[in-house]
Formats: sequence, C-alpha cells, structure tokens
Amino acid sequence: MHVLVTGGAGFIGCHLTRRLLAEGHRVTIMDNFFRASRQSLADVRDHSLLTIYEGDIRRYADFEKLPSGIEMVYHLAAQSNVMGAVSGLDYSFETNVGGTFNALKFARERSVRRFVFASSRESYGEAEYIPVDENHPLNSKNAYGASKLCGERYCAVFNQTYGLDVFTVRLANVYGRGDSNRVIPIFIDKALRGETLTIYGGKQLIDFIGVDTVTDVFMEIMTHEGSSEAVNVGSGRGTTLFDLAEEILKLSGSASTLEVLPAREVEVVRFVADTKRFRKIFRTVLPENPLSLLPQMIHDEKKSGK
Ligand SMILES: NC(=O)c1ccc[n+]([C@@H]2O[C@H](COP(=O)([O-])OP(=O)(O)OC[C@H]3O[C@@H](n4cnc5c(N)ncnc54)[C@H](O)[C@@H]3O)[C@@H](O)[C@H]2O)c1
Repeated sequence: MHVLVTGGAGFIGCHLTRRLLAEGHRVTIMDNFFRASRQSLADVRDHSLLTIYEGDIRRYADFEKLPSGIEMVYHLAAQSNVMGAVSGLDYSFETNVGGTFNALKFARERSVRRFVFASSRESYGEAEYIPVDENHPLNSKNAYGASKLCGERYCAVFNQTYGLDVFTVRLANVYGRGDSNRVIPIFIDKALRGETLTIYGGKQLIDFIGVDTVTDVFMEIMTHEGSSEAVNVGSGRGTTLFDLAEEILKLSGSASTLEVLPAREVEVVRFVADTKRFRKIFRTVLPENPLSLLPQMIHDEKKSGK
C-alpha cells in the first residue's frame, strides 16, 4: 500500500515508518521538522520505498504537491506537547486544528481508503473516574487537548458527511527509543548525569504505553475490518511520577535526588485508560509491565555516552 505519514519524522512516526517499510509498503512522509531531527530517519533515508517531503500541514498547497496513488493516511503531525501548545497557542491551533482539517480534505479529495488520527487522552481532560472509558465526558482542559478534540470532531464530520473511513485512537503517554523532551527521556538523561529529577506537583497518575505496542496497533488498523469510534490506546495501568523516578534511578544505578516543585496548572493530573474497547477491537496484546522498555532505553542512552 502507498501510505502517507504526516509527522513521519517525529517520535512515533519514525517507528511507524520503519515498520511500514520493513513490511514492504511505500511511504511518503510529510513533515516540517518543527520538532523532528533531520537525522531521525538517517538509517532509512535512502530506502527505495521512502519519500521524505518537507511540507507544512498548515498549508493546503503543500498537500497538493504530494504524489498520486496514496491509499492511506496516518495523521500524526501536530504540536504534540502540552506545555508547547499552551505557550504557542496560534501554532497549536493552526497545526492541530487547521492542519488536521487540511489532512482530512486531502484524504477525501484523493479518495483514500482509511484515515488514522492520532488523538490523545488529553481530549478527556481531568478524569472524573478511573479507569477512563471512551464514554467519559470530553472536558479537555488545556489548548493541546482542545485542539485534539477539535480534530476528532472534524474526523467524525468527514466520516458522517463524506463517508471517509476514519479511525481515531486516543493515545495515552507513549514512550520509547527516540523520544525527547518528555518525562521519561528527561528523567533518564538527568539520572545518568547525576542531576536532580524534578517532579511538578507529584499527584500525577500516568498511563505509559510503549511505542512498540502503539506501532503494532497502527499496523493492525491497516487491515482491521470496519472503522472505529475513538478507542483508547493505553496500558490500562497507572504509574505515579515517584514510582517512575525510583524505577529509573534503580535501573540506571543513579544517586540523583528528587525535587518537588509546584504543580503546573494546565496539566491533567490523572489518567488511566480503560482498555475494554481496545481488547475487543485489537489482537495486539498489552504488556504486563507498562515500563518494560525502560531497561533498553537506559542501556542505549548509556551506550551513546551522552
Ligand atoms: N507521544 C505521546 O505521548 C502522544 C500522546 C498522545 C497523542 N500523541 C499524538 O501522536 C502524534 C505523534 O506524536 P509524537 O510523540 O510522535 O510527536 P512528535 O512531536 O515527535 O511528532 C510530531 C511531528 O509533527 C511534525 N510537525 C509539527 N508541526 C507540523 C506542521 N505544521 N506541518 C508538518 N509537520 C509538523 C513535527 O516536526 C514532528 O516530526 C501527535 O499527533 C501527538 O499529538 C502523542
């Protein structure tokens, strides 16, 4: 299949792109390198089935330059960071809402077979109960969550009005090799440098899901019969930031200390995914231990000598 991955040079996009190529699919990436390193896909850059197109989803004209024959779209491009979306309000709105609208319009005009939207647990806002199922009220509490929720609504409208086959996943906190500037890579980096790990607030309960599992799910969606209402993609297990920090310190043999600073008000404090719908839809098995990728990440980071 010929697949477009918007944001394909980003953290999840790189993992997905490598898997798609390994399984023989043709991949076109559209990314403006807002948050991605140009080195992120260095290992597959010259692959005969890969085209990396530097484009901005905020401009529809950039979509019009894409090659013909695209059959499926994974829409991952976004301002993907809560604090970044709050400080860059215009950018997050134009990219996450306007850019998603453009991606949907493109998918409709090119009559693609399926459009996959990477939404977020942030669509729910603060949890009224745990675990959070897909019928939980959608009370997004920050600009990132609001923009993802708008994207979801446009997906639903393109599905209902134009019959576009849309599959929306609400991702929990995805982590793994290649990520940067999120709590796990920051903690690992600080632990290995012997620096203090900072926890804001300390009441957080976070559902971490490994990027390998998320990639398995994205691959499964390709051939899944029938489209889906939004579905949670999370481990179904909650981890506190204290437990996370302790685990990283233990695994890395670090003597770093912890400091607790005041909570950042815009952040959602607690989320654990209810995974009943996930388990009904997907064959992908959720890992017993949501933090199972940590040892490998720490090992890789130590080896890179950073
Ligand atoms: N990683 C997570 O924990 C998580 C959780 C929930 C939802 N998501 C969603 O999954 C998707 C992928 O997340 P990620 O972790 O890989 O994020 P990421 O930031 O690593 O990747 C996003 C990519 O989009 C690109 N991009 C940003 N603005 C763009 C624009 N205007 N035009 C073209 N490209 C642009 C960036 O350069 C980057 O390569 C995002 O939509 C994110 O909101 C991620």
